[in-house]
Amino acid sequence: MKLTHRMRRLRRTPAIRRMVQNVYIHPEDMIYPIFVTELADQPQEVSSMPGVYQFPLDHVLSEVDRCVKAGVEAIMLFGLPAEKDPQGSQAYAEDGIVQEAIRKIRAAYPDLIISTDVCLCEYTSHGHCGMITAEGQVQNDVTLDLLAKTAVSHARAGADILSPSDMMDGRVGVIRQALDDAGFEHVSIMAHCAKFASAFYGPFRDAADSAPQFGDRKSYQMDPASGTRQALQEIALDVDEGTDFIIIKPALAYLDLVNQAAENFLQPIVTYNVSGEYAMVKAAAQQGWIDEKKVVMEMMKAFKRAGADIIITYHAIDVATWLKEGQQ
Ligand code: PBG
Repeated sequence: MKLTHRMRRLRRTPAIRRMVQNVYIHPEDMIYPIFVTELADQPQEVSSMPGVYQFPLDHVLSEVDRCVKAGVEAIMLFGLPAEKDPQGSQAYAEDGIVQEAIRKIRAAYPDLIISTDVCLCEYTSHGHCGMITAEGQVQNDVTLDLLAKTAVSHARAGADILSPSDMMDGRVGVIRQALDDAGFEHVSIMAHCAKFASAFYGPFRDAADSAPQFGDRKSYQMDPASGTRQALQEIALDVDEGTDFIIIKPALAYLDLVNQAAENFLQPIVTYNVSGEYAMVKAAAQQGWIDEKKVVMEMMKAFKRAGADIIITYHAIDVATWLKEGQQ
């Protein structure tokens, strides 16, 4: 055959493949989620997320240490309070579990990037991300003040980045204003801009004990069947209100939107590789049906290729460790 173009020439040796490679994974582009709990005095493994634990305050520094040693420079904190109530008051309590965890971690790791989930569902007795009416409707506007109080309390404790994940309308603007009013104009917002009502969050709700006690989240999180335009509008609104980063969540099934977000906006693009995605990989790997390392690294490359600058992932420490060992 007389072929002008032979693509295989660029794949002939490992060195040539490395030379033409243009997707790289860096430990410093990953955020590692950590669950802190008031409900136990020993680390509790989450049954649907092997390798992921809920940490009592006394044990959280050892997990942060593992993270830092691996080269991961950012964490995202989620809290499990001892007490829940309809207003989710432990979400914005000065001595709440996340606030205490931030102070403890900040004291030990001055340079670590500490981000936090800003939401009420882990703290409300009904498990919804906002206040509810007597009829069980999730209320938007009265929820915003509580989210802002939560955000300010995290900033006061020493958080660098606040990540609202509730999907109430207008919360980014209200949180930005409250932070600025309290003197935290230097603290950033990483909003879950396009967050879908996804079955991929199942294992997280075990990890964070945050399942809604009735109904679902479809009146506030996006419909997986809604098109790209609605996602772009959600992002545009949050950008107008002042988000510093754009999160698309989940990751794997929404890479079209990661790509669209990267093409249409200038803020750093973040994708959240969620609990159900993690659980599927772990389960198949435990069965010996897939090669965990190879599958995880391929997923990370797909996130980057789609346009993500930053990846929130439960695999972060493993990925960073594999990169160090040169096994990627
Ligand atoms: C809280 C929140 C959820 C996740 C992150 N923040 C759950 C939900 O919206 O029900 C899911 C993360 C994951 O599945 O890994 N609102």
